[in-house]
Amino acid sequence: MKEKIEALLAEIESLSCKTQQDIENARVRLLGKKGSITALFDEFRTVPPEMKREFGQKLNQLKNAAAEKIAALRESLEESSAASGSSFDLTMPGEPFSLGSRHPVSIVREEIIGIFRKFGYDVAEGPEIEDDWHVFEALNFPPEHPARDMQDTFFISSGHKDPILLRTHTSSVQVRAMETLPLPIRIICPGRVFRNEAISARAHCIFHQVEGLYIDEHVTFADLKQAILLFVREMFGADAQIRMRPSYFPFTEPSAEVDVSCNICHGKGCNICKGTGWLEILGCGMVDPNVLEASGIDSRKYSGFAFGMGIERIAMLKWQVKDLRNYFENDLRFLKEFETSI
Ligand code: PHE
Repeated sequence: MKEKIEALLAEIESLSCKTQQDIENARVRLLGKKGSITALFDEFRTVPPEMKREFGQKLNQLKNAAAEKIAALRESLEESSAASGSSFDLTMPGEPFSLGSRHPVSIVREEIIGIFRKFGYDVAEGPEIEDDWHVFEALNFPPEHPARDMQDTFFISSGHKDPILLRTHTSSVQVRAMETLPLPIRIICPGRVFRNEAISARAHCIFHQVEGLYIDEHVTFADLKQAILLFVREMFGADAQIRMRPSYFPFTEPSAEVDVSCNICHGKGCNICKGTGWLEILGCGMVDPNVLEASGIDSRKYSGFAFGMGIERIAMLKWQVKDLRNYFENDLRFLKEFETSI
């Protein structure tokens, strides 16, 4: 028995394996149910009592040596295969990741910008956090105008003469342009705006606008009408019609609201246009001389027009989205519908 133990110890000492399978085979051969070490334990029963102590110790040492050797072989094989990368299966399919798509608001904003770029308009941007002057005062809002009320405007600080607030329209960017840019000015101002409205299917406290401004000598209402008509035909199709309804804005005089012929029923009347055949899309007008003067522009020499539209509104008409909240909730099921619109 002594010789057998020594022979097995030597075998364990010199054991070397190339694969996990070799190691497992060696383990079964030594320690498995029919393994040689297990067999020695069976044989141990026949050892005379006075020698049991010595052989018992030896056998336990042998068993431990075998278990340690097998564990060491496993570890070194794992290390070397990790180092050489041989366990990395290059043919495994990769983790799929889904491609993002443009947000419908971005798609429409780019489309509107693209159309006005063709007409020679530059893009102008300005701060979302504004002062009272650029959002209201310079735009001819009388002090008691309801839009200045806390109910409509988010104020950041209101205790002093020129309150700081979140812009309620991007007309503030037009004021900044009139104050700084050389004439003539032809710009569009896309951007995020904020109004203190209860969130519903038809209103949100954040939305996006594109406003436009053109100032030069001899700009007339006919130029405004032509610019809007050209835009609408690019946006809604060559057969689109517009109609203008008199309206009021503090910063334009005269002012108008523009409707486009319903692109769903082509004027016949449907539930989108509520049976009228027309959809309201933007506000516009001739820049009030007071507004020109407030920014240091000579209103006897220069005139201009301005217009403004909500991007979400145009997107809703384009894709018949009924609930405005969809644009802000980032629900992938909604956003994925625009994947092909890029
Ligand atoms: N500023 C207006 C609004 O936010 C839109 C507008 C712009 C109307 C320019 C007329 C002229 O509703």
